Amino acid sequence: MLDWPSRARRLVTHTDQVSAPPDLPALVVRALRMSLHRGYVQASRTETGHLLATLAATRTGTIAECGTGCGVGAAWLRSGAPKTTRVITAELDPELAHGVMDMFADDDIDVIHADWSDLAEHGPFSLVFLDAGSAGQFPREQIVDLVAEGGMIVLDDFVPCPSWPPLAGGRVDVLRQDWLSDERFTSVDVMVAEDTSVIIAVRR
Ligand SMILES: C[S@@+](CC[C@H](N)C(=O)[O-])C[C@H]1O[C@@H](n2cnc3c(N)ncnc32)[C@H](O)[C@@H]1O
Repeated sequence: MLDWPSRARRLVTHTDQVSAPPDLPALVVRALRMSLHRGYVQASRTETGHLLATLAATRTGTIAECGTGCGVGAAWLRSGAPKTTRVITAELDPELAHGVMDMFADDDIDVIHADWSDLAEHGPFSLVFLDAGSAGQFPREQIVDLVAEGGMIVLDDFVPCPSWPPLAGGRVDVLRQDWLSDERFTSVDVMVAEDTSVIIAVRR
């Protein structure tokens, strides 16, 4: 058992070793500034962003995002992906799409003003990222067809739930249930923060 001065010294030493979290990638900061400037509140969470960048780091070929928003998700994906991996993102709203196109003009992110389904002509993809709200509206099989074998689909904005079947708002969360029980995929629901989770589904 250490005496108090020794414990205090150890504590101080440990505290000295604690550093600030790493800075956000510059691309992400730019996209967040655009979100702030436009009052856009649907941007990906930073916790989700770190996960996106980490997953992107494992990807070759082309990564796609359905719904660019102000470019936050695309910025995280680009920040994590190898230089040779292409990142493409589609946004239906013309102002957002062209705003992000301008912002990323020199950044090796292909922004297209298009419906997400137009991404298919650039696929298949090694990773497809979209939010749960969009996934609930888009035909599921069309989303599945975007990824090749070994490719992953990443869906954010779920509300964490420990039960099975998963519940949201007092009802079965059918969207999450379907993605997690689709036998063509190996999948997991990752709670990235107390109030939000992300599904990662890898095509077998
Ligand atoms: C939750 S936000 C996306 C946030 C963004 N992925 C991020 O990481 O910050 C959803 C976006 O999808 C766009 N959207 C909705 N329907 C779409 C469609 N059919 N095709 C492409 N984009 C669409 C919306 O305009 C909105 O900007």
